[in-house]
Amino acid sequence: MNSTLEAAAQVVVRGKSIVALTGAGISVESGIPPFRGKGGVWERYDPMEYATIDAFLRHPEKVWRVLLLDMIATLEKARPNDGHKGLAALEGMGYLDTVITQNVDGLHQQAGSRDVIEFHGSFAGFHCLRCETPAVIQQLDLGVLPPPCSCGGIFRPDVIMFGEMIPPAHLHRAHQIAESCDVMLVVGTSATVQPAAALPFVAKEAGAAIIEINPTATPLTNMISDIFLKGPAGDVLNRLVAAVEHIR
Ligand code: OAD
Repeated sequence: MNSTLEAAAQVVVRGKSIVALTGAGISVESGIPPFRGKGGVWERYDPMEYATIDAFLRHPEKVWRVLLLDMIATLEKARPNDGHKGLAALEGMGYLDTVITQNVDGLHQQAGSRDVIEFHGSFAGFHCLRCETPAVIQQLDLGVLPPPCSCGGIFRPDVIMFGEMIPPAHLHRAHQIAESCDVMLVVGTSATVQPAAALPFVAKEAGAAIIEINPTATPLTNMISDIFLKGPAGDVLNRLVAAVEHIR
């Protein structure tokens, strides 16, 4: 076992209140591309053209046809990987309390995590822009884009687009958790999108240890991360869980 991994396992075993903040990187090994970097979603689609609420309201047919159907098809095929399962295992062992995820893929819940804050919403649900009727994908008529509601409105996914607020209840709870945890695992996020990117700073300021898991350094790495476990989330979390089991 390398010493950095062992140090991280010691911090986890001694932690009293541990939270994970996850981003797109944890789902890469499930076949879902990240947003930034090579092969990222924003390399193929300009977020200003496809991912802002203004763009959606101006051109809902185009955003549905080009971006949303593509994302839905990718998410339908995805299954939890060892990264999601590793966090669920840490929860099962009593070490991890909550996952705050920026992901909209539902894979943490599928892996067995029970307390998941979906900071940017979820593709599991949709609602009508006009009458707010909720729906699941099977209830939408995707033969017509944007999918119409019987009230004359159109459906949109329950995800946060750029230019929209994080639901206040989620923001409030995530802040409270960040302020009160003593360890934050930051997994697979570039830590560049606010307000999620502020959460590790809130935790650090309140005295928490930051353990970061990522194949690439981020703005957090040399600034506030106490331990940087370099590598893909699945492999690193497998090894971290094994190390925790070994010393607990
Ligand atoms: P990004 O695409 O910005 O960053 C993905 C991170 O995952 C990078 O730091 C990669 O180095 C890392 N990564 C890549 N492969 C990995 C692997 N196998 N294991 C672990 N890490 C890996 O994704 P987010 O930080 O989640 O918001 O982006 C934040 C938000 O920006 C998203 O929620 C989305 C996006 O625009 C909205 O759409 C509102």
